[in-house]
Amino acid sequence: MLRSELGLQEQNPRSHEPWALPAPSKSDRSLFQEMRFRSQIGMYLNDLGLVGVGVEVGVHTGRFAEQILSQWSGRRLWLVDPWQHLSDYLDSFNATDEIMERRYKLARHRLERWRKRVGWIRERSEAAAKRFDQCACDFVYIDANHSYEHVRRDLRLWYPKVRRGGLFSGHDYFDAASDAALEPVFSGQAPPRPLTSYGVKSAVDEFAKSIGVVVRQTLEKYPTWYFVKPEGSARSK
Ligand SMILES: C[S@@+](CC[C@H](N)C(=O)[O-])C[C@H]1O[C@@H](n2cnc3c(N)ncnc32)[C@H](O)[C@@H]1O
Repeated sequence: MLRSELGLQEQNPRSHEPWALPAPSKSDRSLFQEMRFRSQIGMYLNDLGLVGVGVEVGVHTGRFAEQILSQWSGRRLWLVDPWQHLSDYLDSFNATDEIMERRYKLARHRLERWRKRVGWIRERSEAAAKRFDQCACDFVYIDANHSYEHVRRDLRLWYPKVRRGGLFSGHDYFDAASDAALEPVFSGQAPPRPLTSYGVKSAVDEFAKSIGVVVRQTLEKYPTWYFVKPEGSARSK
């Protein structure tokens, strides 16, 4: 219904991913000292008392934002994505301006019931980061351009925006020659070319080492990385 209204067949190149794992029961709460699946992030944030401001960088059609909002008791989730064709985004998620516009509308529609708690920033990551004060965010989740260079830059841009004790996290914690390597992404279709290589793990590990934190990861095939920003950290950057 929704998709046909918008004239959009939602295209998730990783449609085999378990996007909507069942919400954990309350008896699972003791397990939230670790996050086993990213679908648990809302409860995990609640348990850590991180219920102020959050940011998702890279939103697509808002499916993960929906998962967050359906569990998280936070005040406001800011959603950052230009929803336009990007010439430096060599990824199967890139698309024409027209398709990106439809994805934006689908995300707006999907998240309408949480409109009072959602903020929309239709900009690139680097422009959007300037809107946030240092330590303003209880969490930031990075899931935009997955090239090593872009992730490295996003980590440096957004880490200072996370408060001490806040959660810094992101998707697709691995390196790959290209997302064409993510079988069965294209299920027989020829992927668009050229595709960038994925360098999320390298960029995150390097950044974590530089600030002396241990990175944790969830259990999915395409894991989420995460760590809590140290309370006593001398560095905000
Ligand atoms: C993998 S999708 C996000 C999926 C979403 N986080 C989810 O799990 O439902 C990546 C998104 O990042 C956006 N993107 C790519 N480059 C970006 C940039 N420089 N700044 C912000 N967003 C970017 C794309 O438009 C795309 O919608």
